[in-house]
Amino acid sequence: MVAPLRVGIAGLGTVGAEVVRLIEQQGRVLTERTGRPVQVVAVTARSKKKRAVDLTGIKWAKDPLALAADPEVDCLVELMGGAGDPALSAIDTALKAGKSVVTANKALIAKHGLKLAKAAEKSGAALNFEAAVGAAIPVIKTLREGLAATGISRVYGILNGTCNYILTRMEQEGLSFDECLKDAQRLGYAEADPSFDIHGHDTAQKLAILASLAFGTQVAEKSIYVEGISSIAPEDLRAADELGYRVKLLGVAMRTAKGIEQRVHPTMVPKSSSIAQVMGVTNAVTIDGEGIPPITLVGPGAGGAATASAVLADIADVARGIRSTPFGRPVEKLQPTEKAPMERHEGGYYIRLMARDHAGTAATIATRLAEQKISIESIVQRHPNGSEPLKTGAKGGPVPVILITYATHEDAVHKALQAVQRDKVISGKPQVIRIEKN
Ligand code: HSE
Repeated sequence: MVAPLRVGIAGLGTVGAEVVRLIEQQGRVLTERTGRPVQVVAVTARSKKKRAVDLTGIKWAKDPLALAADPEVDCLVELMGGAGDPALSAIDTALKAGKSVVTANKALIAKHGLKLAKAAEKSGAALNFEAAVGAAIPVIKTLREGLAATGISRVYGILNGTCNYILTRMEQEGLSFDECLKDAQRLGYAEADPSFDIHGHDTAQKLAILASLAFGTQVAEKSIYVEGISSIAPEDLRAADELGYRVKLLGVAMRTAKGIEQRVHPTMVPKSSSIAQVMGVTNAVTIDGEGIPPITLVGPGAGGAATASAVLADIADVARGIRSTPFGRPVEKLQPTEKAPMERHEGGYYIRLMARDHAGTAATIATRLAEQKISIESIVQRHPNGSEPLKTGAKGGPVPVILITYATHEDAVHKALQAVQRDKVISGKPQVIRIEKN
């Protein structure tokens, strides 16, 4: 009889409670698949309040550090979240004692992943974080194991369920941003502080982890250009729809002649693209491998059950005795990256301007773009209250002008828009959204 893997769980929120329940429910299957029984022997959480999961016979550790140091715990499962203590010290303690760790904590892995991976390498323990990116989507394993011998040129996708849920419902149901965010919080998708979701930091943390696995770079959130979705207005979603696009918050990491470019920002994608079909809380990651067509993984990217599914898969690997280097190669081989200057980003752009309604405005805008060698794919001037085009020479307040450009440099777009602002033919700040065609 093989000795069971004795698991200690720190954090009994939505995910932690679901992990306890699943280990109980899936115990026989886990043993069959891994060849070793898995038992939850101890737990700890901030409060001892009653939970919808049976903890009978499970020891309550006084704090996460005590749980990590408990000699009866073989594997620490950290589900508290937070980029620092107590999660950091607990994981460090467990790894240094040679105990494997499973965590869903992207903030911690993005910030301290290298240090923790070094500790894991040194003690020969596993540090598994499949649940940290894309919840139930096995993207970490795909990059680390499945594509271990494939050169990767780009990895990109929808990595935040909350933002995709908000954008989808705003677009499809015409709801306000705040209403959609409230629902995302109620459904357990959003972070404790939802500004991490909305301002793109959650996506950036996940992208930093994926980029490290894909390109052998050091995990570094600070190397990522980050822009969130809070500036996206219902009129942008309506205009995108009319022009054949959808707006998605994408994380993109790609190899360029000047290094690895990593960026997070709202992006217009053609409605016909596979990424545009990904709606609601669903996440999707596309990997462009050298010599093979792109691989797209799609699945539930947030929520208790989806996250717990990945946590259990990581526990199963520990039970099987699998010990991969956390980032797919030794930490000392990972290369530093620079923050990519977005001025040199090349692509098409959606621009929405509130143009002063007098003769020559459109011509002035077109001239300023032409001076920067920007070609316009389409230009539409809207009636302020709807889609009816404005009559030439009509008088009134500012009117929305929407432009789609062919591929150009971001630097050129900024220069052209600065000139338009100096010309005083628009009011307010122009809205600019990058377009990703494939
Ligand atoms: N807040 C995250 C999201 C949870 O919405 O994607 C999963 O990491």
